[in-house]
Amino acid sequence: MTATLIDGNALSKQLRADVATRAAALTARGHRPGLAVVLVGDNPASEVYVRNKVKACEDNGLYSSLDRYPATLSEAGLLKRIDELNNDPKIHGILVQLPLPKHIDSHKVIEAIAPEKDVDGFHVANAGALMTGQPLFRPCTPYGVMKMFEAHKIALTGANAVVIGRSNIVGKPMAMLLLEAGATVTVCHSKTRDLAAHTREADVVVAAVGKRNILTADMVKPGATVIDVGMNRDDNGKLCGDVDFAGVKEVAGHITPVPGGVGPMTITMLLVNTIEAAERAAANA
Ligand code: GUN
Repeated sequence: MTATLIDGNALSKQLRADVATRAAALTARGHRPGLAVVLVGDNPASEVYVRNKVKACEDNGLYSSLDRYPATLSEAGLLKRIDELNNDPKIHGILVQLPLPKHIDSHKVIEAIAPEKDVDGFHVANAGALMTGQPLFRPCTPYGVMKMFEAHKIALTGANAVVIGRSNIVGKPMAMLLLEAGATVTVCHSKTRDLAAHTREADVVVAAVGKRNILTADMVKPGATVIDVGMNRDDNGKLCGDVDFAGVKEVAGHITPVPGGVGPMTITMLLVNTIEAAERAAANA
């Protein structure tokens, strides 16, 4: 292996220690930070994510509430609950786990969350603030990736960065944050004609499509930094990312593993965003 491993568990541990310190300071001043997590339906992957988010709150001194609803919950019922959480002073962050059942309009639900409690950073007000360079909350996964670049001193100013994937959750905000950091950013996606032609020129590649082996060793410039946001299963049911790790680690300069890479960072940055929301609320109290 030639690439240096970017260890998301180790970096998370450092950042969560700071979260715990800030949570304790807020609690001592009577402003214990609180996160409300809402899960609708029984998507098994969502159940695991939600459990890990709630546990991370408990482990670091944040208050958390978990609302679990059957897939039959009405859109109106969910909107009513969000309204209650918007007005609950114990709650500083609201996270509605996606995807939602098909009969619920997720856009409408996200827009119902008070922007100052939207710790996912998905509300149009927060997406717009990010786009105009004044972010209130950075979406957790891309924010975690930026912390990984920072921790490993990966130079982004003037770097060629390729983001594979154009989702609202990862691809688009990732591109915005890289742009803000001074990178020359290309966003590739399922309709891109020649993905390899783009990735071969990249100093930094972020793969976020949810498809195994989308990035192989022949597509990577020697020494490039490769970040794998994918969460897939291989033929044996083992967790794997979007990157052919075994091949790419021989070419890349830095690489993230799956599991133990971006995954824990996403949860860590959710805690950071919740602390920031609570600190702002405390300052305005
Ligand atoms: N589903 C997959 N990733 C996320 C995320 O970051 N936030 C929420 N709310 N749902 C998700």
